[in-house]
Amino acid sequence: MQAVALEGRGDLAEWRDAARALAMAGVGPQEVDWRMAGAASLFDAAAPLPPATRPPPRVPRAFLDLAESVVCHADPGRFALLYRLLVRLQDDPALLSMPADADVVAAARLATSVRRDCHKMTAFVRFRETAGEGGRRRFLAWFEPDHHIVALKAPFFARRFADMDWMILTPRGSAAFEDGVLSVSRDPAAKPVLDDPTDALWLTYYAAIFNPARVKPGAMRAEMPKKYWKNLPEAALIPQLVAQAPARVAAMAAQAALPPPAHHARIQARRQASALAAPPAPESLAAVREAARNCTRCALHCTATQTVFGEGPDRAALMIVGEQPGDREDLAGRPFVGAAGAVLDRALATAGIDRAQAYLTNAVKHFKHEPRGKRRLHATPNAHEVAQCRWWLRQEIALVQPRVVVAMGATAVLALTGQASRLADIRGRLSPFDPGRALLVTTHPAHLLRLPDARRAAAQTARFEAELAQAQRAAQVLPA
Ligand code: URA
Repeated sequence: MQAVALEGRGDLAEWRDAARALAMAGVGPQEVDWRMAGAASLFDAAAPLPPATRPPPRVPRAFLDLAESVVCHADPGRFALLYRLLVRLQDDPALLSMPADADVVAAARLATSVRRDCHKMTAFVRFRETAGEGGRRRFLAWFEPDHHIVALKAPFFARRFADMDWMILTPRGSAAFEDGVLSVSRDPAAKPVLDDPTDALWLTYYAAIFNPARVKPGAMRAEMPKKYWKNLPEAALIPQLVAQAPARVAAMAAQAALPPPAHHARIQARRQASALAAPPAPESLAAVREAARNCTRCALHCTATQTVFGEGPDRAALMIVGEQPGDREDLAGRPFVGAAGAVLDRALATAGIDRAQAYLTNAVKHFKHEPRGKRRLHATPNAHEVAQCRWWLRQEIALVQPRVVVAMGATAVLALTGQASRLADIRGRLSPFDPGRALLVTTHPAHLLRLPDARRAAAQTARFEAELAQAQRAAQVLPA
């Protein structure tokens, strides 16, 4: 039996040198008694190492990465496990890719536990400022890792806290960073007295950013196991903060339901009045169109490319009102030039209407949309946006003087009548609108595009065309 005594404090080179010598001497895994330096061995009368008869062992890079973590684990069996893997790898270089192998599983489990410990160290080391010399500030931290990870994690802290001097002391070694030089000791350190007047500041900050509405005690316990609490100043606050959370959330909800202070209503009323106050009506369609380019009556102008105003003759017997410009119209600056526009164009042609003779416009003049990746998806304008844009529509009607106005879809109906009506109840009938003017409600061409059933789509399209023709006939016969 070969007895090998190691310091065993996470130093891969120490294990690697011993393992290489054993492997070259042809010593099998069962013939090695791995133990910690200073610990008694059952095999004190162990034989001296036989001479090397074999070439140095070869291992894949993945084994060294694995061993670097495993060797930091506190499990006393880690050296024997690594040596078994090393010997087996000589005959089976693909061993590590066998996820069901008991040794591979055991090593992976140890490595995971070390990685978790490393993560906790980066999350839970709390530095306290101590008296320093010279220009650099000096900090001290105490941490209690489960494994021998100080040397492994020290470079991380050196990178993160390069502008200060610090020491991290642990029962499994310590790391110091002074004037840009990192040094690591694997000797156990004693817990220092840590007293920092800025702790109070940290606790105040922690309590202030603690969000009672997002408390998840289970997740907190899993992320911050109890054993770390004693070295985390904020841990003393947490039970109290968690206990108060429901009451604070209830208070927040109650607060939100309170009516705003009286001056809020006055300010809102003043703002609304000035926003709604109709500017003097421009005298020509061209002037209205120009004014609408700078419209900020609702927030849609912020995200749209441009105002898409109506187009057509200055005077037209037939006005056709849609909902709002789509993606294509927003870019082109003209109404009905996209897919719905193509449906409308075909229907107009079938109905015997010359598009150039009708006035085409929309209830809302800016494209409302929601981003989805690179696409801009149509979003229906709300009642406020429709109401704000009605001012422009009324200007268009007043100037164009149509005899018949066709409302295509519910948004156009809302804009023209102020009523949110069911389309099916009012569709296809000419009804009086302004004095000497009639309204005809029909469907929106985009609706026809969305009908999945071809027969229904054909029937609805025919009805749409018939309703447009009906409007056209009325526009020709109604007195001007
Ligand atoms: N849909 C509308 O309502 N108007 C357009 O201009 C384009 C599509």
